[in-house]
Amino acid sequence: MTMLLEKDAREDLLERGYSRRTIGKISALMAAGAAAQSLLVQPALAQQQAARGIKGAVRIGSNECWTGPFEPGVQAAAKAAALGNWYDPDNYRGDLISTVAKVEGIPESHIMLWPGSGGPLVSTVAAYCSPTKGLVTADPTFESAWRTADYLGAPIAKAPQAVGKGHDVKAMLAANPNAGLYYICSPNNPTGTVTPLADIEWLLANKPRDSILLIDEAYIHFSEAPSAAKLVAGRSDLIVMRTFSKLFGMAGVRLGLTFADPEIQKRIGLFGPTAGGLSITAMACGTAVYPETGLIKARRQEMIANREETIAWLTRKGIEVQPGSQANMFMMNWKKPAKDMQAALLATPEKVQIGRAWPIWPTVSRVTVGSADDMAKFRSAVEKITKA
Ligand SMILES: Cc1ncc(COP(=O)(O)O)c(C=O)c1O
Repeated sequence: MTMLLEKDAREDLLERGYSRRTIGKISALMAAGAAAQSLLVQPALAQQQAARGIKGAVRIGSNECWTGPFEPGVQAAAKAAALGNWYDPDNYRGDLISTVAKVEGIPESHIMLWPGSGGPLVSTVAAYCSPTKGLVTADPTFESAWRTADYLGAPIAKAPQAVGKGHDVKAMLAANPNAGLYYICSPNNPTGTVTPLADIEWLLANKPRDSILLIDEAYIHFSEAPSAAKLVAGRSDLIVMRTFSKLFGMAGVRLGLTFADPEIQKRIGLFGPTAGGLSITAMACGTAVYPETGLIKARRQEMIANREETIAWLTRKGIEVQPGSQANMFMMNWKKPAKDMQAALLATPEKVQIGRAWPIWPTVSRVTVGSADDMAKFRSAVEKITKA
């Protein structure tokens, strides 16, 4: 087996109480690279793959954006592609970091680039959880962190989240007052609800100093809620994570960010994936789109209009939709097994692929907000399957 874990990382894992067997598993995960890590990131992979094979499906199942990168990003990526014979001819990496630093108002030293945020999320769990230092998450939430902790044999505590609300940070701390890592997803996947900054600050002030708080802001641009990014400058126990896969429409381009103290960034890097593996096309695209506040706002408003129109329609039909989403998704309660309804929608002539249910709420489906046309097809398919 390729041993990708550096000696420092192996020693660190031994010191934290991992068995040699588990360390072998971590090495295997890293040697297998992105493919294996994506299994932890994307719990419904098999289900999604089944639908991916269906040509012409309305793809409102994976929280992707209905459209691609903003035009300046597409143009910048095309220009960079023509220079693709060079590794990084014009300092694309430096340009992206300085652009992000300016937009966020944080030091360049606190910004790290990744091929998406799923990889560093897995690595953060390996870096800060152990058999004695557990993970705390909400339930329901994006499951990648807890799947990784489960894979590593680290204890997991889940604090149930009330319908329509953000994470219950007091319940999260009570669930394990001495965790290695507290994971907050805001806006949350799958509910779209926001955990207020005041609650995040409360958890920072009350958790043990040696535990890490990770705020996953994959969907932050879809909401108007303030980001936790500015808090990272003065702290050595906070990570804010971003992806270009959502509002920026770059899921297939692969680009993500972590904002944290340089020592934390180094530690995440110890447990892979390689931060160096970025294409200049992705970085050029990211640099061009990140400061486009006008385009970001317009896309957010388009999504909100599509979401609210569909929620109003479902409500008129007597189908319950959970309140409070501030992201490109909502949770609808069929009051019967969501799995069957998901399959029924895919079988309609519109071929609508919605998201899955979470075990805590088996009758509730996550629906991604797509284009106005996608949502019209969704409504027409729902009409058919609820009439039948
Ligand atoms: C909350 C959250 N975090 C992280 C990711 C990972 O996305 P990516 O690896 O495309 O950046 C996703 C993807 O759906 C997500 O929903």
